[in-house]
Amino acid sequence: MSPTKNVSPRERQRRDYLLSSPLGAATRAIHLGQHEAGLDQFPVPALICNSAALLDSVEAGRDMLGNAEGENFAYQRYANPTVSVLEAKFRAIEHCAYSLAVNSGMTACLLVFRALLGAGDHVIVPRGLFYEVIEQLEHETRQRGMTLSVIEAYETAAFQAALRPDTRMIFIEAPTNPAFLDINIAELAKLCMKNAVLLVVDNTFLTPLCQKPLSLGAAVTLYSTTKHINGHGDVMGGMVSTNDPDLFKALKSYRESAGLILDPFSAWLTVRGLRTLALRLKKHADNALAVIAMLNQEFPTLQWRAVWSTRSAQANGIDPSLHTGLIAIVLPSQEAGTIFVSQLQLIRTGTTFGNIESLCYHYGSFARAGGTDLERMGVPRGLVRISVGLEDTDDINADIRRALRLAMLTQASAAGEVSPV
Ligand SMILES: Cc1ncc(COP(=O)(O)O)c(C=O)c1O
Repeated sequence: MSPTKNVSPRERQRRDYLLSSPLGAATRAIHLGQHEAGLDQFPVPALICNSAALLDSVEAGRDMLGNAEGENFAYQRYANPTVSVLEAKFRAIEHCAYSLAVNSGMTACLLVFRALLGAGDHVIVPRGLFYEVIEQLEHETRQRGMTLSVIEAYETAAFQAALRPDTRMIFIEAPTNPAFLDINIAELAKLCMKNAVLLVVDNTFLTPLCQKPLSLGAAVTLYSTTKHINGHGDVMGGMVSTNDPDLFKALKSYRESAGLILDPFSAWLTVRGLRTLALRLKKHADNALAVIAMLNQEFPTLQWRAVWSTRSAQANGIDPSLHTGLIAIVLPSQEAGTIFVSQLQLIRTGTTFGNIESLCYHYGSFARAGGTDLERMGVPRGLVRISVGLEDTDDINADIRRALRLAMLTQASAAGEVSPV
């Protein structure tokens, strides 16, 4: 299939208009990307499932199979038109040159490690990174003759102190999840560029609509699209983006040979999710701000964490009304955290975030014995992450208010104190 096949003058005119206009995030997510795979004749991008395209002539076959730079639809392991729509939409909202869809966020991490690192390389990560990524990287570095430094301070100076002549990559999440510790991406990117180190940012938490690490100087961003990007909790996926053609070539080549590409149905669902991302983020943000306002007013002694409180100039130029619904409430003890989540009725416990429904997760209740060291990750035992969803604001606040009162009362009476609330 050729992206330019059967394009009418009207379609071409519309396409030129869309590509040359300074469109906002919501418009870009809804309208851009469809034309890239010749799929703009319908408002909803088509779901195309074909393990192989037919090569109608030897010439067409040669064109397709020899197309190392572009989209090779000859075989689904190389490229697929529905996946290409998702990638093109992603490029449009991330303002970047290249995006590659893969079948989960962990696959996105693996693709970056496998394609961009080799024996002898040294990698630096902060302790507050998503723990499964650290586990994956420990395995990768051990198996492939590399070394890993896990650092526990997140100022640029701490990363600088960990640099070695063989350091090839710094991999971060900013802010860290769920501790909400901030890392200055722009400052770290400068350090990385000066030392020929690749800065990779897992931007799952904020999405490209709230933070654009590539614009701040990062070499690569990656995402679990399972979270806000899809947003409906019904599909898994990952994305890797870059502006560097050599990094893209290496990433694409490894994705093809290992067969890591996202499947078309998951891509189709993720496109549907992505088209409402801006709208959803606005409502997530409104609801989370309402929860924070309620906490400040009714539970003034309770600690809470949110990205609004830690964000720096990293978000410059980005619509401030778009934000996630991620907040963390820090209860006074692990027991109080357990009581709080057990008392919630509307908000249920789940290991994911960014869905339309509100979800909570209490790390202290689920920490594996001998596993993740929460304190070293900056996660207090009473911390409960709440992914504030899209339900009616008053219903979310009523559930949190009631469960918090019960948790604080139980905690106070167990300690023989008068309740602080
Ligand atoms: C920040 C972050 N990165 C990566 C991942 C892995 O993504 P997935 O579960 O889609 O493989 C997660 C999943 O929880 C995550 O929270």
